[in-house]
Amino acid sequence: MHKVPLVESLAVIGRGTRNWIADRPIVVSFEVTDGCTCYCKHCDHGGPKDQSKNLRPADYQRYMDALRPCVVQVSGGEPLMRADLVEIVRNIQCGSGLPYTILVSNWSLMSESRYLELREAGVDQFSVSLDFPDERHDEFRRHPGLYKHLSNVIPRVAALGHDDIVLNSCITAENVGEINAMADKAREWGVNISYSAYSARRTGCRDYLLTSPEQLALLNRELDRVEGRRQDAHNWVVSSCTTLEATRRYFAQGGAPGCKAGLRFLVVTADGMLQPCSMQFQRYPLEERARMIEEFTRRNTCGECYVSIRSYLDKSFPRVLWENVSNFFSLESESR
Ligand SMILES: C[S@@+](CC[C@H](N)C(=O)[O-])C[C@H]1O[C@@H](n2cnc3c(N)ncnc32)[C@H](O)[C@@H]1O
Ligand code: SF4
Ligand code: SF4
Repeated sequence: MHKVPLVESLAVIGRGTRNWIADRPIVVSFEVTDGCTCYCKHCDHGGPKDQSKNLRPADYQRYMDALRPCVVQVSGGEPLMRADLVEIVRNIQCGSGLPYTILVSNWSLMSESRYLELREAGVDQFSVSLDFPDERHDEFRRHPGLYKHLSNVIPRVAALGHDDIVLNSCITAENVGEINAMADKAREWGVNISYSAYSARRTGCRDYLLTSPEQLALLNRELDRVEGRRQDAHNWVVSSCTTLEATRRYFAQGGAPGCKAGLRFLVVTADGMLQPCSMQFQRYPLEERARMIEEFTRRNTCGECYVSIRSYLDKSFPRVLWENVSNFFSLESESR
């Protein structure tokens, strides 16, 4: 994975340290639309939604000034549905490489020219969802032709050589046997891969959780292999060892305690309200972030997910710093 240059790394790490001390969020996820091009089996966002109350690109500056995150996820729904996405990304940028900006998308509407425009506007990392290494992806996402489109556009864009694309596979009962096959696909396409874990909190459906001893044994076998492959020279598996371990524990124990939603990370909804995370729907105005921490974070007992935003941030500060520095920033050696 491409690393952020030294000066920009120092800016991101400096701001992260100040935010940690000041109880400001490290990561903010802007859900720039509720609508989507897919109807995924594991998600509640599917299909078109009312867009009339969406924040406009210039509105994002007010959120950046108040929250000052060092990492921003631009997500949704499907963010590429916004024709003004490049403008949104520009308005999020604060200079000196801040914030480190990740576009989380299904890439159904991605093209080479749009990728280049978004890079130019300030996207540092493109996170592309992949649930299967073949056409079963279309069935799971209920979007015919999506896999063919990905297998066409991803290798073409990856060949430009920017090394900023990371497939993100959400592990479910349906695809647990494909964990390494998806890593193979990432290698074949010339991109990186990370893993996150299905949560029933979004839809209430428990069918995609891994619960039986057979499912958990398969998960462990697949992740054992992934951990072995993390050590190889290509460095294309981005999930850290501690995240993979926590993912095993999350499925085995049916949850992951210690969530810092609302404090270390938060969501800004498409219409501009703060939420602790994408699966907790208590809404607060920007000015009432402190009330969200008091009312939600300090009393939160929910451990119902282990998605990537948690895997970046639930650890101690030195651990968070070390893992992110060694993965994405330029201060340390290549070892992860
Ligand atoms: C909500 S989507 C938004 C961005 C974009 N539409 C996409 O699919 O990448 C962000 C990520 O959440 C994951 N996701 C959706 N439903 C989930 C669930 N129930 N549990 C865990 N992750 C989920 C998706 O697979 C995707 O990688
Ligand atoms: S996971 Fe992403 S692509 Fe699928 S329905 Fe949800 S928002 Fe849309
Ligand atoms: S564990 Fe945390 S991030 Fe996950 S659903 Fe619960 S409150 Fe949200």
